[in-house]
Amino acid sequence: MKVGFIGTGLMGRPMAERLLAAGHQVAAFNRTREKAEPLRDSGAEIVGSAPEAVSSADCVILMVTDAAAIREVLFQKSSIPNLKGCTVIQMGTISPKESIQLQEEVAQKKGDYLEAPVLGSIPEATEGTLLVMVGSSEVQFERWSGLLRCFGPEPLLVGEVGKASGFKLALNQLIASLTASFALSLGFVQRQGIEMELFMRILRQSALYAPTFDKKLKRMLDRDYANPNFPSKHLFKDVALFHTAAQAVNLETIGIEAIHRLLEITVEKGYADGDYSALFEAVSPVRQQAGGS
Ligand SMILES: NC(=O)c1ccc[n+]([C@@H]2O[C@H](COP(=O)([O-])OP(=O)(O)OC[C@H]3O[C@@H](n4cnc5c(N)ncnc54)[C@H](OP(=O)(O)O)[C@@H]3O)[C@@H](O)[C@H]2O)c1
Repeated sequence: MKVGFIGTGLMGRPMAERLLAAGHQVAAFNRTREKAEPLRDSGAEIVGSAPEAVSSADCVILMVTDAAAIREVLFQKSSIPNLKGCTVIQMGTISPKESIQLQEEVAQKKGDYLEAPVLGSIPEATEGTLLVMVGSSEVQFERWSGLLRCFGPEPLLVGEVGKASGFKLALNQLIASLTASFALSLGFVQRQGIEMELFMRILRQSALYAPTFDKKLKRMLDRDYANPNFPSKHLFKDVALFHTAAQAVNLETIGIEAIHRLLEITVEKGYADGDYSALFEAVSPVRQQAGGS
């Protein structure tokens, strides 16, 4: 199958590698060309524009930051004249409303559209163990689930376009809420002078434990957020999307607003490109030494 792949960032690059390893032809485009170049060694054709990636492809996979970036690559810069015979598979994290709107815009260009956002990060993308949630018709799912199995063993049809985006936002608000909550307990335990390992030992045995706590513990203790799998700026974006979508269905959003503010502080402190566990810096900042004149 000939696949156009747009967006070879942290997630896109290992995902494109999976397609190549499965024997698909890949034409890869990335705004910053150097980030796509390493895929050439694995057999990808590196192209200089989105229209070239789409040209004669059976489908085009989008793995860019947000809906604005999608619009830019599909409809603005060197705009694609038409998408006839091409299926757009949107795999980034955007809102249900944005996804439905994109479906309409793609249809105006005579293309087909489905969404397949993913849970998991770079290690899962590399190993092909992402959790792939699909928003599409059953016919589209039948047609594309084989290809999507390159990324995760069991793509799940959630419902029509918009449903998988919503599903993904519901999961990502949990990432933010659990991490902010754990950061607060960790900061508190430290400031109380309680032994960390004792606290973790009890937490691990309790119903309150979530595996993500241990995944983020070392980064928080070391205050080391370099080489992220999932940068703070993207979680900040996702929480903003969740907030708007939750408000639209009349949910109380006070809690998520506070977490959004914590992520804003994290970004303001310079951790936009750091791992999202840098939320700890907003919740429990390094204390200034007392004293001096
Ligand atoms: N990282 C994760 O763990 C993870 C997991 C699940 C889902 N996601 C979602 O997947 C998507 C990609 O995430 P990522 O972690 O791979 O992010 P990333 O490394 O920041 O990559 C973002 C990609 O979008 C491109 N892009 C951004 N703005 C653009 C624009 N205006 N025009 C053209 N291209 C643009 C970037 O191009 P340049 O290289 O030129 O900047 C890059 O290829 C996001 O929606 C994210 O929320 C991420």
